[in-house]
Amino acid sequence: MNSLLTCFVWMLLCVIPAMAAAGDILIADFEGDTYGDWQAAGQAFGPGPARGTLPSQMQVSGFKGKGLVNTFYQGDGTTGTLTSPAFKIERNFINFLIGGGGHSGQTCMNLLADGKVVRTAAGPNTAPGGSEQLDWQSWNVSELAGQTVRIEIIDQHTGGWGHINVDHIVQSNTRHQVIANKERIFDLQKKYLNFPVKTGAANRLVRLFIDKQCVREFQIEIAPEEPDFWVYLDVSEFAGKQGILQIDRYDSAWKTGFDAVTHADTFPGQDTLYREALRPQFHFSSRRGWLNDTNGMVYYKGRYHLFYQHNPYGWNWGNMTWGHAVSTDMVRWQERPDALHPDALGTIYSGSAVVDHNNTSGLQMDDEKTLVAFYTSAGGNNPLSQGKPFTQSMAYSRDGGKTWTKYEHNPVIDKIIDGSRDPRVFWHKPTNKWIMILWIDGSTLSIFNSSDLKTWHRQSDVDGFFECPELFELPVDGNPANARWVVYGASGDYKIGRFDGTRFVPDTGLLKFEYGNCFYASQTFNDMPPSDGRRVQMGWARINMPEMPFNQMILFPVTLTLRTTPDGIRMFTEPIREIESLHQQHWQKTNLTVKPGDNPLADIKGELFHILAEFNPQDAQSCSLVIRDTPIVYDAAKQQLTCLDKSAPLAPIDGKIRIEVLVDRMSIEIFANNGLIYMPLGVNLTLRSDSLQFRASQGDILVEKLDVYQLKSIWP
Ligand code: FRU
Repeated sequence: MNSLLTCFVWMLLCVIPAMAAAGDILIADFEGDTYGDWQAAGQAFGPGPARGTLPSQMQVSGFKGKGLVNTFYQGDGTTGTLTSPAFKIERNFINFLIGGGGHSGQTCMNLLADGKVVRTAAGPNTAPGGSEQLDWQSWNVSELAGQTVRIEIIDQHTGGWGHINVDHIVQSNTRHQVIANKERIFDLQKKYLNFPVKTGAANRLVRLFIDKQCVREFQIEIAPEEPDFWVYLDVSEFAGKQGILQIDRYDSAWKTGFDAVTHADTFPGQDTLYREALRPQFHFSSRRGWLNDTNGMVYYKGRYHLFYQHNPYGWNWGNMTWGHAVSTDMVRWQERPDALHPDALGTIYSGSAVVDHNNTSGLQMDDEKTLVAFYTSAGGNNPLSQGKPFTQSMAYSRDGGKTWTKYEHNPVIDKIIDGSRDPRVFWHKPTNKWIMILWIDGSTLSIFNSSDLKTWHRQSDVDGFFECPELFELPVDGNPANARWVVYGASGDYKIGRFDGTRFVPDTGLLKFEYGNCFYASQTFNDMPPSDGRRVQMGWARINMPEMPFNQMILFPVTLTLRTTPDGIRMFTEPIREIESLHQQHWQKTNLTVKPGDNPLADIKGELFHILAEFNPQDAQSCSLVIRDTPIVYDAAKQQLTCLDKSAPLAPIDGKIRIEVLVDRMSIEIFANNGLIYMPLGVNLTLRSDSLQFRASQGDILVEKLDVYQLKSIWP
């Protein structure tokens, strides 16, 4: 035994130095100001290694450190050669990063033994377009072991892609190369394909083929090592089929990456879903990935449908797809599989959805009404649709919104200006026509109409708005006999006016809608139940969710109304009354004098709140409602409401200020004076205290009514 052990230790001692000697040998990393002992001839190599991209060059990426060989020096017209000193082959492979021109023998890197070219490599590009990304290539040089060799980098091409990029040349016993279009085959029986993601990693293009058809295509920052989180591709609709999953550039050095993709009925992190540290608790956010604009908001048969701009595969914007969620109360949401995926016409940008009650489209098959969605096909935003312009397309659902089919004659509106987008469609009863309002370009919206949802006629333009238009009618002060139309763009700033089915005529200039720091790209529900009659809006809250497997959220639904004020008719914004269904513990104070130093909310602790305060500032200088260390301050002298770095004008009405606040983990939504002022704010409250304060400064405040409700989460 003993002698065996000694023998084993002895073996280890012998092996360890051998293993150490097998480490990589750096030949060149081009981090210096000059090429050092490499010899440059001609102009193309410039005075020394380039620091990334050169003037007039597409963005160069994929190199290591700051420097690289980049022979785009003074453009493609220059030529030259760069030769290494002689060195000995001591490892099985030479690995290197290479990109740029792919003209063999002309834009290339050669290995020379006895003055002869024994290996050669070039970049990937010969035709216009392409990419300046460097990737790993590798030469197997085991048969040259012990020989003395040189490397030469050549640029002898003066036309398009007449340059070569090289970096980080190493001798190694591990091959490091990037393989084009590597595939894996999955017999699809389970729900998901799961992918590891690392935000900031190089973007790769992944495609799923079923029966030789590319059914999904997306960019993904696939994690080379430890992932930040996992995303899933729902493949349940392909159950029983064979799926070929392809990645455009597979890196042999990945420890996680493409080989780690799994096929399973669950996705990693599912057990902690909605319990993540920053997960909004009564606002919608997607299970995985990025979201932006609300889309396709429509009510049908007891369900509110919310679609949204979704990147299912990453933390940042991209791969625009329509995510989908449903609710019976606009408060509790259930996420459904994504509804519309990018296709050969483009990624799926923002749009809207209607119920085709009278079957004007002729798409209805049985008793079930057809839901029809309009969206922008965002042209060349993905490789599948390269070179295509922005157009407007249609999709329909014959099963109440569960599954969607794209209209076979898409697009329904051809290119107007590349970039025109965000079709908002609704039924206009007085003219018996469908209306679409579309952002064209600059600050121009256009109004179209249609009898069948498929053919659209441009009627007129509306000036002054950017992206994501809305147009709807509201009674003034609740009086249907006195109604006005409202138009707005993505910022929410609006005009009030008249609309006859073809033309919008404004009565007002541009009016400010909100005073917060995160509001954008909202929409209101089509087809609210007739007994309801509310105009309910939901918008995108631009709130970052650092280190979460999801990003951004949707604001709490608000009711929009028009009311007469001393300044004229204005739009008011209040949280929908369904917020009450989340009320838990309730604290109430009435007719209370708050003196400097008092805090009537001292006993309350918690995370999620609905607060209503009605107070008379009397002679106090200011009044603060402090939410988990974040003050909302009413300055009585300035008649101004401030939270974080945002302020809004606010004058007492009959001596009173009324403030309503919704508090979630990542947001504070403020509604002042019954919704005259709307201030939605993104703020991370999770690391703050869990206390509330109501403070008076330099004078007493008369609190007429103060209600605080603790809220419950909407998530299971
Ligand atoms: C607004 C917007 C829309 C577009 C969408 C793309 O946020 O730029 O105009 O349709 O986002 O995600």
